[in-house]
Amino acid sequence: MCGIVGYIGNKNCVPILINGLKRLEYRGYDSAGIGIILNNHSEVIKNKGKVSLLEEKIEKMNLQAALGIGHTRWATHGVPNEINAHPHYNKSKNLFVIHNGIIENYQILKTGLEKFGYEFVSQTDSEVLPHLIDSFLVKGHSLFKSVQLALAEVEGTYGIAVIYQGEPDKIVVARKGSPLVVGIGEQENFVASDVSAILAHTKQIVYLEDGEVVEVCKDRFTAKTIMDKEIEKEIHEITMSLDEINKGGYPHFMLKEIMEQSSSVCNSMRGRLLLNEGTSKLGGLENVIDQLVNSKRIIISACGTSWHAGLVGEYMFEQFARIPTEVEYASEFRYRNPIVNKDDTIFFISQSGETADTLAALREAKIRGALVLGICNVVGSSIARESLSGVYTHAGPEIGVASTKAFTSQLVVLALITLLIARKKDMSLVDGKSIAEEMQKIPDKISAILKLNDQIEKIASEFKDVKNFLYLGRGYNFPVALEGALKLKEISYIHAEGYPAAEMKHGPIALIDENMPVVFIAPKDSTYEKIISNIQEIKARKGRIIAIASESDDNIDKLVDYSIKIPDTIRMLMPILTVIPLQLLAYHIAVKKGLNVDQPRNLAKSVTVE
Ligand code: G6P
Repeated sequence: MCGIVGYIGNKNCVPILINGLKRLEYRGYDSAGIGIILNNHSEVIKNKGKVSLLEEKIEKMNLQAALGIGHTRWATHGVPNEINAHPHYNKSKNLFVIHNGIIENYQILKTGLEKFGYEFVSQTDSEVLPHLIDSFLVKGHSLFKSVQLALAEVEGTYGIAVIYQGEPDKIVVARKGSPLVVGIGEQENFVASDVSAILAHTKQIVYLEDGEVVEVCKDRFTAKTIMDKEIEKEIHEITMSLDEINKGGYPHFMLKEIMEQSSSVCNSMRGRLLLNEGTSKLGGLENVIDQLVNSKRIIISACGTSWHAGLVGEYMFEQFARIPTEVEYASEFRYRNPIVNKDDTIFFISQSGETADTLAALREAKIRGALVLGICNVVGSSIARESLSGVYTHAGPEIGVASTKAFTSQLVVLALITLLIARKKDMSLVDGKSIAEEMQKIPDKISAILKLNDQIEKIASEFKDVKNFLYLGRGYNFPVALEGALKLKEISYIHAEGYPAAEMKHGPIALIDENMPVVFIAPKDSTYEKIISNIQEIKARKGRIIAIASESDDNIDKLVDYSIKIPDTIRMLMPILTVIPLQLLAYHIAVKKGLNVDQPRNLAKSVTVE
């Protein structure tokens, strides 16, 4: 979740590093730093807090260098402060290392290095790296070899970039479990943990795989494994534009991404929905379709919002594909010796494709021989590459830490997969067609819901100062209740819980009084009457109610304090619609509280540590 950027070429690297770090801030942002080398001079500048503070500090120094690396940190070991910020360095301060990930055996390595006189100044695990590399450099090895030898001793995960005054013509980078790319330019090259950091300069990208070490000079790069085996690397052309990454006129990325959902779900469906055949076409699943359709069981594993999408997927798969489905947090799955059979299919859902727990669970599932499929948004991400096959969500880059458009696109992809399996099993053409037709209407219905933005903003004003919120829904909308509560927690810091509506009477009802707002997801479906009874139970205890209801529902207004009326669709697709008012509600409450919605405290977009 920390960010890495590096430059080698003929230009001054300082503004390139600072701009790259700004683009990476969304990944982690409690401190930042750069290390630069120019001829016989090297300099490291670090600062607690935002990149803009680091920039102010650097501006006064008038630094010029053609080689440098930069880092934004999200603390794992050691508090966020200047000393713990990266780059870390050796005693002579002429070797700089930035590191994403966690060195699990750092205590052992540190104790060993201390015996040889190495002194540590920070509380981080990362600081063992410059000293360890230094211990090989002093024995006469090259920088590249020293990095290889050092990494052979390291247990844990890393994406690293290393520069050394003794070899000022290169950056050495390596990867294990933490993403890293090399950007290829003209007489200049770049390194980054995320292409967005360097996209302003190049679209030619080389993705590192786990266990690879790359020497990046200004006019060439060479890749080897840690064990020194040579590797041929392919250069990929990135199609994503910088425009796609900026805010597009909205005050926050989160609002931009909420407002994009009509087109992002359209992109997720584009070319995949076969209306006449009442099914879908998913290129990534073609070579595994028989195995998928004949699976005895489906497991969906993910974290956070992606896990909520998985819960909706469970309802879809069981109702239409008729395959028993379980959903499990990736962090639990990986550690509990799960029963996985060869005729199981396991879907790993991840926006970033880099979430450490999801990636580890995927690797565990692969070892056990199941059909491992990915549903990812970031093309070329680790989960996408390590899955046997899969489907991209194509929601476009999601920068706001709280996931919004990635979620609705995940739901669309799950619906497409459901349709594909169900039609290969026992779903009739007529039923398949009616689902496909409903799917095609979803983007317009989303546009209609987004027009309720002003109404939702007014409701948000009424509730911005409350301390607790309850979200209730049934069936397909139970996961939406969880997701609505998560959105509010993440960005407004208001305590919120999601519950299946009928479970309310087994506990949460004790919390209800005139101060407790309850959000009901109550579209007119087969559980509508039951939800109305739950609404009355809350009303009888003076709870304040916001209902997400069907356009056609005139009855509900007299029962609730606020109603947000949305278009209807079939039950399996309803979560794609009902979640949108909840995203907007959370967004406006957080903005009215003056909070940083795109970068909420303590959270990171991509959690690449356990
Ligand atoms: C972090 C993000 C969440 C996201 C979760 C899973 O916690 O803040 O928004 O849902 O990770 O991320 P993934 O990229 O795997 O979907």
